[in-house]
Amino acid sequence: MKATRLYLLLHVLSTTAVLVNTFDPVTTTVVIGIGASLGRTIYNYLHESCDSKWIAFNATALEVDLSRKLFGQHIASRIILKAVNGFMKNANPKKPLVLSLHGWTGTGKNFVSKLIAESIYKEGMDSNFVHVFTSTLHFPHPSQYLTYKSQLQQWIKGNVTNCERSMFIFDEMDKMHPGLIDSIKPYLDYYDKLDGVSYRKAIFLFLSNAGGDSIAQTALDFWKEGRNREEIELKDLEMLLSLSVFNNKESGFFRTSLIDKNLVDFFVPLLPLEYRHVVQCVMAEMKDRGVEPDQYLADKLAKDLVYFPKSERVFSVKGCKTIESKLDYYT
Ligand SMILES: Nc1ncnc2c1ncn2[C@@H]1O[C@H](COP(=O)(O)OP(=O)(O)OP(=O)(O)O)[C@@H](O)[C@H]1O
Ligand SMILES: *[C@@H]1O[C@H](CO)[C@@H](O)[C@H](O)[C@H]1NC(C)=O
Ligand SMILES: *[C@@H]1O[C@H](CO)[C@@H](O)[C@H](O)[C@H]1NC(C)=O
Ligand SMILES: [Mg+2]
Repeated sequence: MKATRLYLLLHVLSTTAVLVNTFDPVTTTVVIGIGASLGRTIYNYLHESCDSKWIAFNATALEVDLSRKLFGQHIASRIILKAVNGFMKNANPKKPLVLSLHGWTGTGKNFVSKLIAESIYKEGMDSNFVHVFTSTLHFPHPSQYLTYKSQLQQWIKGNVTNCERSMFIFDEMDKMHPGLIDSIKPYLDYYDKLDGVSYRKAIFLFLSNAGGDSIAQTALDFWKEGRNREEIELKDLEMLLSLSVFNNKESGFFRTSLIDKNLVDFFVPLLPLEYRHVVQCVMAEMKDRGVEPDQYLADKLAKDLVYFPKSERVFSVKGCKTIESKLDYYT
């Protein structure tokens, strides 16, 4: 793909050069002018830029992806679709969109972030306007948080100045220094502009395992009462989630006033995945690899995972996380 584009570019440029040689000065100027604007168009075609050619929200794509590719997350699906849709359709939002995703490991927090990015940016997660910060990777040493702080603020400011439709994903938010979280607070708030930069079209996603246990407990209670998983509603989790989020002394998230100040627009709970969802994940992974989905193998792999509680084996402890590598082993 890239090679063809490059060939096209070279071809256009060499044609322009030949033309320039054969015409008088006036024509040459015109030809060079056309060549330059053509060059710019081609550059824009090849190189991602902050415009509607590269950034165009497709609501249908998000809806289809959430319903077909994301398994067992009816609450998260619904909130995300509504929130992103509403925000992207609003030409003049009052503040950036801030979503906080919570759940056990392997339930789809990064996966759903990827789906959101793909519905907005042509280049998806590879876009120059999508930025992922992982606490343990980018900000590993608590003692250095002051350095990280000014660095992070500069990055956010620089990137939003470049493109107001920027997306920032903070992974492992629960392992982030409270002071560092504090430092991004101004960007999440209802300011018209900060130092001449408007952050109101940006999107912030916070991913964490915080509250995962209480979400799982609620899901388990429903299961024990013989109730359908799909009956779980946001209101069944909201209270618990904010309680466990506030009271958890481990993570910095909670001691900051992100929550008091209502800077987070939506708390999005991801439910622990059941056996049947794991099977769906394996089948999807096989399809992705271009091999014929094999129900027998999917069952075999799913059965080998660890489930909680031990006796009833209801929820996959690692969700769909280790499936990729397991599949290599089984095939
Ligand atoms: N609900 C889901 N539906 C479909 N696939 C899923 C789901 N959850 C996880 N997966 C698959 O498992 C992989 C790992 O999930 P992901 O990285 O999103 O987990 P996570 O919630 O971010 O976990 P962690 O808390 O450990 O970071 C994904 O790439 C995806 O292929
Ligand atoms: C939006 O996504 C849908 C579903 O993936 C696709 O059929 C459609 O062509 C897309 N629209 C645009 C404008 O890209
Ligand atoms: C944008 O963020 C990235 C980190 O994702 C950083 O490396 C880069 O320097 C930032 N750009 C600007 C202009 O600040
Ligand atoms: Mg993750």
